Amino acid sequence: MSAGTLPTPAQRRTFRRRLLAWYDVHGRDLPWRNTDDPYHILVSEMMLQQTQVDRVLPKYHEWLGKYPSLEALSRAGIAEVTETWRPLGYNIRPRRLHAIACESVARFGGELPSDEETLLSFKGIGAYTAGAIRSFAFRQRAAILDTNVARVLFRVFIGKGDPKAHAMKKRLWATSEVLVPVKRVFDFNQALMDFGATLCTARKPKCLVCPMARGCKSYPWDGTS
Ligand code: ADE
Repeated sequence: MSAGTLPTPAQRRTFRRRLLAWYDVHGRDLPWRNTDDPYHILVSEMMLQQTQVDRVLPKYHEWLGKYPSLEALSRAGIAEVTETWRPLGYNIRPRRLHAIACESVARFGGELPSDEETLLSFKGIGAYTAGAIRSFAFRQRAAILDTNVARVLFRVFIGKGDPKAHAMKKRLWATSEVLVPVKRVFDFNQALMDFGATLCTARKPKCLVCPMARGCKSYPWDGTS
């Protein structure tokens, strides 16, 4: 990919500054933002993959009360673990989480590794979750991209084309990678999530109060007034 398709250094700085200033005022105070325990981060991210924040909150606390560590989770029976998860949806996520716990005990003494390659070797940890664990738990300069973040970056920096195309996804990952700051990585990635979930939403984006509007490729009135 040519460098011209990525945000310039000046655009990166502006985006980071605006996003973090917005987050300082509007960011949500969520329990997984007050921890850097890799297991807690993993649980929250797996729960949040297909479930809204308000439904995840009580289950997150219940889960960590019942299974306070990867070791404890690995010792629990799969039927009980699936039952604990059930109100969040009948699906593969609790089995995956249990399998990750067993594997982390077998291979890493009940810890989660911090490097990308090893994280990706776990079934159930994809590129997004690996980036979340690295940036939230280990404070590494790692990028994230999920549906919310992809929408934000597409609208702000790209604006045209098919947001779901494979080549576009690659470009969006590359965009996320160049944007991650050296300082405040944790806040920056959490801010991207909140920005997509509460302001730059799929159906009714709040463009009129958006701090990115000036320069956003998708701002409805850009170039017409
Ligand atoms: N959805 C997925 N990860 C999230 C996070 N860390 N905070 C809020 N919503 C999320």
